[in-house]
Amino acid sequence: MKKQWWHDKIAYQIYPKSFYDTNGDGIGDIKGIIKKLPYLQKLGIDILWISPMFRSPMVDNGYDISDYYAIDPMFGTMEDMDQLIVQAKERGISILMDLVVNHCSSEHPWFREAMKDPDGPYGSYFYIKDGKNGKAPTNWRSYFGGSVWEKVPGYDNKFYLHSFAKEQPDLNWENKEVREKIYEMICWWMEKGLGGFRIDAIMNIKKDLTWSDLPADGPDGLADVYKITGKVTGIGDFLMEMKHRCFDPYDGLAIGEAMFVKEDILKNFIGDDGYFSTIFAFEPCHAYRKGKNYKEYLWPQPFDDWRKETFHNQKLIESTGFEANIIENHDQPRGASLFIPEEDYGFYSVSALAMIMICQRGLPFLYQGQEIGMSNRKWKLDEFNDLETLNQYEIAVKSGISEENALSIVGHHSRDNARTPMQWSHEMNAGFSDGTPWMPVNENYRTVNVEDEEKEYGSILNFYRRLIAFRKSEEYREVLTYGKFHPIYETQDHIFAYERINEKKRLALICNFSCQPSEVELKENYENVVFVNYEQTTMQGKKLILKPYEAVVLEESL
Ligand code: GLC
Ligand code: CA
Repeated sequence: MKKQWWHDKIAYQIYPKSFYDTNGDGIGDIKGIIKKLPYLQKLGIDILWISPMFRSPMVDNGYDISDYYAIDPMFGTMEDMDQLIVQAKERGISILMDLVVNHCSSEHPWFREAMKDPDGPYGSYFYIKDGKNGKAPTNWRSYFGGSVWEKVPGYDNKFYLHSFAKEQPDLNWENKEVREKIYEMICWWMEKGLGGFRIDAIMNIKKDLTWSDLPADGPDGLADVYKITGKVTGIGDFLMEMKHRCFDPYDGLAIGEAMFVKEDILKNFIGDDGYFSTIFAFEPCHAYRKGKNYKEYLWPQPFDDWRKETFHNQKLIESTGFEANIIENHDQPRGASLFIPEEDYGFYSVSALAMIMICQRGLPFLYQGQEIGMSNRKWKLDEFNDLETLNQYEIAVKSGISEENALSIVGHHSRDNARTPMQWSHEMNAGFSDGTPWMPVNENYRTVNVEDEEKEYGSILNFYRRLIAFRKSEEYREVLTYGKFHPIYETQDHIFAYERINEKKRLALICNFSCQPSEVELKENYENVVFVNYEQTTMQGKKLILKPYEAVVLEESL
């Protein structure tokens, strides 16, 4: 495997609307990100991915772009953006923006033109199809519920395709002119000095051009549109072209949001000459998703499945490339709530989870607030903002689940849990804004916040700082970045353990991920305890006695 500049780095995702507000309108902004660069630098962050800040009607919080060349005024100006790129670079931080090109916004001029004249040049920028006697061309169901087809206003039998909300029409990648426009735009941004892009929903860009129905998978007679990603071929041609045109010339980091990539073709995606630099390791993180709807998701994350998927994925990737490891992002609940039973939430469980994640092979990718232990909020139905959440509530209720239980299910799984304002202090609105925050603040900000945690050596924040410093230290950086991954104690109850090994070092991370004490029989001669989340490590001969949620990294010098 070729070594890359980003392999030994630490990355962090910002959800800009909820990060830090400098002008009191209740919405996070670019100036707010600039203001917090020193904080991110001190945490040890090298790469920042910022969710979309382009001009947008915000139907899906910026994942519906109406102008790829403009910053939405809600976030500031293009000058602010240029400043952010420059000032971040001065602190050794590369900025990644979010590339949303499976679809644009229904307010984009291309789409407006297409609606005015569906048979004109802009019509072919989208997928506009004739229906079957006034009915949708296929039975595909959009990610946010309902048909993927919406009638073109003023026409009885013409429809346009939207894999997500109807305000997010899919762009026609088969049209060379569209691809050229997209590549030109990416290069324009790369020229500004970006480190690269995170690439949204990219597996959806290749459609089934035979426009055939799928076997219905619900009482609505529809079938989930993602299923066509498993049927179609040829997506690689588009992705390779984009890589060559937009990322190779800049040595840019391209991180695909690519789900459902089959194992036998993983190499094409993230191998040395893959379409992307890397993709997110979703499988281990999504072990709780036992069906397609929230009501089929488990709560909390089942330990055995999470461990099994992690081991499987780490071994698979080792021979293929490098993935980005996450426990949370803006599309799912807080990791501290998902992975840890509510009654066990606390310093030891959160720090143990952090160690399990950060010592793995791959690019550690934190989500804002993870480093202070932010957790899920308790919701009332009318407080939700996210359209996926509201749709999932309806699905649950329609299937016969009581309103009370439906609220509890979506309360756990709602993406809004990750989108509450970042908790900077114990002051009003968690120090996020002087105005009224666009989303409710999690009530636990009085104890979970940056300012107070900075002052306390034993806080989660300071633990994360030490853990990141450990990962990046002269001594352990090499083995933690490139060392082989070897699962240990794979069948022992609630023990999450693995080794990282290279020619010079053998490290073992051993964690008791439960509220009961436990012990393991050590097989190797580990001489040193090199990283811990408790003050004391107890060994009796070859026995390692583990307290609840104790995690240790041991070293054997080779
Ligand atoms: C991706 C984004 C998600 C968005 C969707 C549509 O999955 O992460 O937030 O809703 O794409 O753009
Ligand atoms: Ca603001």
